[in-house]
Amino acid sequence: MENTIKSIVEKYDSDKGFLVPVLQDVQKELNYLPREALDYVSQFLKVSIAQIYEVATFYTAFSLEPRGKYQLALCQGTACHVRGVPQITDHIERTLDMNAGETTEDLKYTFETVNCVGACALGPVLVVNGDYHGNMTIAKTDRLLKKLGKEGTE
Ligand code: FES
Repeated sequence: MENTIKSIVEKYDSDKGFLVPVLQDVQKELNYLPREALDYVSQFLKVSIAQIYEVATFYTAFSLEPRGKYQLALCQGTACHVRGVPQITDHIERTLDMNAGETTEDLKYTFETVNCVGACALGPVLVVNGDYHGNMTIAKTDRLLKKLGKEGTE
């Protein structure tokens, strides 16, 4: 991990003014901000760990908890809800053997339920790592999960 963090910090010329982009890159690489990684950022960027935590907890985009490789966010807004989101939520929970709000032990999936993601006409909407999947049905969700399952083992 040390080398990964070192090369990210060097990309920004070890300039502490780039703390936020450095943390963004670390999170992109590791899916979350583990303590060990933050210690290296502190060491290489010469920023106190307290300051790093201040930034990491201020921005909701940062996660200090482990996150899955695939981050699934299922919209629970009204437009999606009336088009079958409760059934899709149950289906994802059953298929991945997890509850919404959790990350699987193998760190493959994080599944969250979220408020309206602003694409109501496409509802039900499932956002996977930032990509919007609209008009979701149970069958479509199944196909998507199978595809992600295969990608993860290749
Ligand atoms: S209600 Fe789901 S995108 Fe708006």
